[in-house]
Amino acid sequence: MRQVPSYIAAAYCQTLLPVFSASVYANRRDQLSRTISNGVVLFMGARHAPMNYPHNWYPFRQDSSFLYYWGHPIADLAALVDADEGRHILFADSPSVDDVIWSGPQPEAAALADRVGAHEVRPSGDLEETLRTMKAAGRRVHYEPPYRVNTQVRVESLLGLGTGSAPHHASTKLIRAIVRQRSVKESREVRQIESALQVSHAMHTAAMRLVTTGALERDIAGHIEGIAIAGGGRLAFPCILTRRGEILHNHYYGNRLRNGDLVVHDSGASSPMQYASDITRTIPVSGTFSARQRAIYSLVLRAQEAAIGALRPGYRFLDAHLLAARSVAADLKDLGLMHGDTDEAVAQGAHALFFPHGLGHMMGLDVHDMEGLGEDLVGYGDSVKRSDQFGLAYLRLARALRAGHVITVEPGCYFIGALIDQWRAKRRHAAFINYAEVERWRTFGGVRIEDDVLVTPSGSCILGPPIPKAVLDVEAACAA
Ligand code: GLY
Ligand code: MN
Ligand code: MN
Repeated sequence: MRQVPSYIAAAYCQTLLPVFSASVYANRRDQLSRTISNGVVLFMGARHAPMNYPHNWYPFRQDSSFLYYWGHPIADLAALVDADEGRHILFADSPSVDDVIWSGPQPEAAALADRVGAHEVRPSGDLEETLRTMKAAGRRVHYEPPYRVNTQVRVESLLGLGTGSAPHHASTKLIRAIVRQRSVKESREVRQIESALQVSHAMHTAAMRLVTTGALERDIAGHIEGIAIAGGGRLAFPCILTRRGEILHNHYYGNRLRNGDLVVHDSGASSPMQYASDITRTIPVSGTFSARQRAIYSLVLRAQEAAIGALRPGYRFLDAHLLAARSVAADLKDLGLMHGDTDEAVAQGAHALFFPHGLGHMMGLDVHDMEGLGEDLVGYGDSVKRSDQFGLAYLRLARALRAGHVITVEPGCYFIGALIDQWRAKRRHAAFINYAEVERWRTFGGVRIEDDVLVTPSGSCILGPPIPKAVLDVEAACAA
């Protein structure tokens, strides 16, 4: 392999995000190639996505499998792994003078190939002819389901597929191979996630200081995003920072915080190499939890700690979810909000009035890792079947855990007016829900607590620096 000329390496460092060493990518592709065993794998890198006219783009985000196997966070790349010949080919163009004028020094195509251990680099215009020749020779072309329309259209054009048909012809064999590989994080990947969590720690402790009576949600949300950018990456997903925490994915920041409110803050930085983090804390605007707030907060925290304590290789995440649900239901019974047999209430899904979402998801290069490959293939596999029960149906991850999985654990408890009204009108699960008491809590809002957890050979550990979570620690951080 040729050395990257130093002037290119320097420019590369100035203009591009870092990559791991070439052997990391070559080894990952070799392993994939052995699993696929025959045919060709087509990797489509992302293109810029216009926001409101062609040259005003959304911030560029490379496809995560492209990042995993080919490293470069650069638009318009594509690549092939020929599993029969054992050859890895990158399709990339060297920069024109115009590119350099508008975007600064860029690496040559050959340098891009060298940096990630490709055997060969060809101009991107050759991809169509290369694929045509391979298909004519009867070679199977495996590709991932495209989740962006411009990628889907391009795949259909390159492979001569009918309009709209690319998702149906995506390779399940490839998806399974990628899921198996990307699910178990290498230690270098765990270090990336932990570096993202350093920044998330700063974001969350800042929010605890800034949440105060009279503050605007948007002022705090803007500050949080600034910390993510200053940390060298950016947000892994749009920040949630809201006094209306019962709206699970609330991206509205227009409210002014009032004394007595609870703020749900769900945000995470991504690392410079684009690994995600995903943390939720719930913050009392007054600086201290009221008795009711402390009761619901403590109940969610107990459920989270019970679930994290149970995680280990071989344990199904479905069972961790149900464990958390039983913990929530038992504590709601103590508060008079539920009644009847707790196990039966959870078996029938009554707790979902208060905890309507899943316990968590895988996390890595994507915050919901690999969800674009299909939630069931990633989170369930062949051994667990997704429930159609309300609440449990939203569980993204159910399969048995393996050492090296990185997952979120994020139970919550919410009082959602529309859901309460719908269920009460039908007397749904009235054997388990004390609707008269629920009415007295209707304007409570919501609580969610979320950490990122590595499954270890003997159990699990919470990744990153500790972010205040116990009641007294949150209150102390609010007072700081
Ligand atoms: N931040 C979205 C989630 O927790 O899944
Ligand atoms: Mn989250
Ligand atoms: Mn999450």
